[in-house]
Amino acid sequence: MKVEKVIEIDNLRFEILIDTERLQRRVRELAEEISRDYQGRIPIMVGVLNGASIFLADLIREMSIDCEMDFIKISSYGNARVSSGEITMIKDFSADLHGRDVIVVEDIVDSGLSVQYLRRRINSLKPSSLKFVSLLVKKGAAKVELKIDYIGFEIENRFVIGYGLDYKQIKRNLNAIYQLVEEK
Ligand code: IMP
Ligand code: MG
Repeated sequence: MKVEKVIEIDNLRFEILIDTERLQRRVRELAEEISRDYQGRIPIMVGVLNGASIFLADLIREMSIDCEMDFIKISSYGNARVSSGEITMIKDFSADLHGRDVIVVEDIVDSGLSVQYLRRRINSLKPSSLKFVSLLVKKGAAKVELKIDYIGFEIENRFVIGYGLDYKQIKRNLNAIYQLVEEK
């Protein structure tokens, strides 16, 4: 979707936070960093559906090394704007992660509960290594201690949409990131 300065849905006003050009530049940098770190290996990039699908698609096309891709789906927000804290697996991995270099690709880290859940679940499958990349990380929002190996942007603790991130399942196809500024 075309990039506008302001988006209004329901009674909410969203303003642009990260434009397309900045997004693309950062995605390219992350891809270069990952390609350097995994030189000579073939990592499995595991996207967390639905949010990370767009980021993952762009990220792997900027990588200079081979990789495989897989997807998992876990529930977190439902249609709410605040995480429920309960996580359930909706679609499990298809690939065998045992002995593999696994890189989990997330759209955003908020409470950190999804990452914590995924780390435990994947470690139980005995990969040879496990790293996390997240396009966005909300400052100070994490309720658990976590380590994200590659971070696109650190942002304020506000609700955001676009580039995979949704509001009630829509606006994922915005080609920039927007943040909620006010409720009318
Ligand atoms: P966490 O488990 O609280 O870290 O939440 C992670 C998931 O919640 C992310 O992967 C997103 O799918 C979703 N999420 C968190 N913050 C936002 C937001 O500001 N906008 C849209 N989705 C979000
Ligand atoms: Mg997600």
